[in-house]
Amino acid sequence: MSRRSLLYAANWKMHHGPAAARDFLSRFLNLTSPVADRRLWFFPPSISIAAACEASAGRQDVTIGAQNVHWEPKGPFTGELSLPLVAEAGARAVLIGHSERRHLFGETDEQVGRKLAAALKARVTPLVCVGETLAEREGGRTEAVVTRQIGSLLERITPGEWEKVVLAYEPVWAIGTGKNATPDDAAQVHELIRFEISRRGVAHRVPILYGGSVNQGNVLALLAREEVDGVLVGGASLEPDSWAELVGLGA
Ligand code: 13P
Repeated sequence: MSRRSLLYAANWKMHHGPAAARDFLSRFLNLTSPVADRRLWFFPPSISIAAACEASAGRQDVTIGAQNVHWEPKGPFTGELSLPLVAEAGARAVLIGHSERRHLFGETDEQVGRKLAAALKARVTPLVCVGETLAEREGGRTEAVVTRQIGSLLERITPGEWEKVVLAYEPVWAIGTGKNATPDDAAQVHELIRFEISRRGVAHRVPILYGGSVNQGNVLALLAREEVDGVLVGGASLEPDSWAELVGLGA
């Protein structure tokens, strides 16, 4: 495997409370050593952010993030969390526009764009997700959907601000289904995303991760593609031993 920089992001979704997050990280960090050019990001449920930060203190290669935030810094939004609140708990990154937020909770491109702008303002690194549904792919609309999603991000921030953004392509049909996109499918959409942002004046090489049923059996083939700068993983990131093995495969 090459020495280029790779990012492994674990999205724990609605798993691992504070005690489980602490146990996970103490075990996982015992099993792994920092590797040059390998970044390890964890997105626990927000209630576990502080515990995850404590458990990973001192490991420069580890970043803890939030899975979702509201775009307003404070106010009467019962049940929501703001960027200053998650940052105070220790989050240095935030997932934005995950397909489960878009499709299960009705988040729109407009809201995703607001969250992106708010994250940049709060200096919390946004990891913005895009991707098409099965119906959109089967209807030949993958390119149109991803271009629209990326276009709405481009409206929100200046070309220079892209230096602080990470993107993830997560085809909705591949999430939690066991069906992953082939390395060719992923590379094709990653190329499209890169084309869209560079033609709009973004000079920085924005990292683009792939997500959707990544596991130990397919991760190397995906990372072998130069278009794929890392992976965003749900199910296969939930157990410390096997997640340590997976992140060790490309090291
Ligand atoms: P799975 O790896 O479980 O398919 O989930 C992918 C995902 O949604 C990561 O954000």
